[in-house]
Amino acid sequence: MRRSRFASVVCAVFFAMAVSGIACAADSGPETIEFPGGKKGVVTFNHKQHQEKFKCGECHHGPGHSDYTEGMEIKKCEECHNKEMANKKLNKPMKAFHKNCKGCHKEQGGPTKCKECHVKK
Ligand code: HEC
Ligand code: HEC
Ligand code: HEC
Ligand code: HEC
Repeated sequence: MRRSRFASVVCAVFFAMAVSGIACAADSGPETIEFPGGKKGVVTFNHKQHQEKFKCGECHHGPGHSDYTEGMEIKKCEECHNKEMANKKLNKPMKAFHKNCKGCHKEQGGPTKCKECHVKK
């Protein structure tokens, strides 16, 4: 799963560069990210659109859940949200994503139903 997600991110970056003809700013990450999403289907996340509305720290944090600070190294969620994490509610990337994504959508608007995020392709 790790490899396939990496591949999607790389593709998203190249796709964005090919379409716009410019490279995205190195530290902002990809404009869009396609998560494989398992059997439920692909989740297309418009990173750029969310960045325009929200602070980086709404989604990214540092080691030990420390606050996001400008310029810090941003790691993939699965680097920490994996089976080695003691908190069983957050010990898979899916759990971290669902809590983060759906949590905000419930409060601020945005999709909360499975099929609004997961699309079978
Ligand atoms: C609404 C949530 C959200 C916001 C806001 C957000 N990001 Fe992200 N970002 C993500 C998610 C989700 C990923 C994909 C993480 C993964 O693949 O595990 C990501 C990936 C990245 C990556 C690539 C990491 C990697 O190794 O693949 C970078 C760099 C990044 N973001 C930078 C930023 C910066 C800088 C900001 C603020 C300007 C920001 N992000 C705002 C959710 C967000
Ligand atoms: C460097 C390690 C690390 C990375 C990378 C990381 N997290 Fe976390 N995260 C943690 C730790 C540690 C906690 C606290 C766990 C606990 O409560 O036991 C946490 C807590 C959370 C929580 C619950 C608390 C809250 O803020 O609501 C969510 C949701 C979450 N992370 C989502 C994410 C997402 C989404 C990503 C990727 C964009 C991410 N995390 C990347 C370490 C990390
Ligand atoms: C901090 C709040 C917040 C977080 C975290 C967040 N979102 Fe959103 N998202 C929103 C809001 C608000 C909207 C509605 C935007 C609008 O209608 O203009 C939205 C809209 C969307 C949409 C619909 C886009 C469209 O064009 O209709 C998708 C898909 C989406 N989010 C996916 C995600 C995913 C996947 C994650 C987690 C990786 C995530 N979001 C995390 C706030 C958030
Ligand atoms: C706000 C968007 C959003 C909504 C709503 C949502 N998901 Fe997800 N889901 C995600 C993201 C992002 C991932 C991470 C995908 C990945 O790691 O490939 C994910 C991952 C998953 C995975 C794990 C895929 C894997 O193989 O790791 C399953 C299963 C899943 N979701 C089921 C559901 C179900 C069932 C619902 C409805 C009750 C739902 N999701 C609603 C965004 C969403």
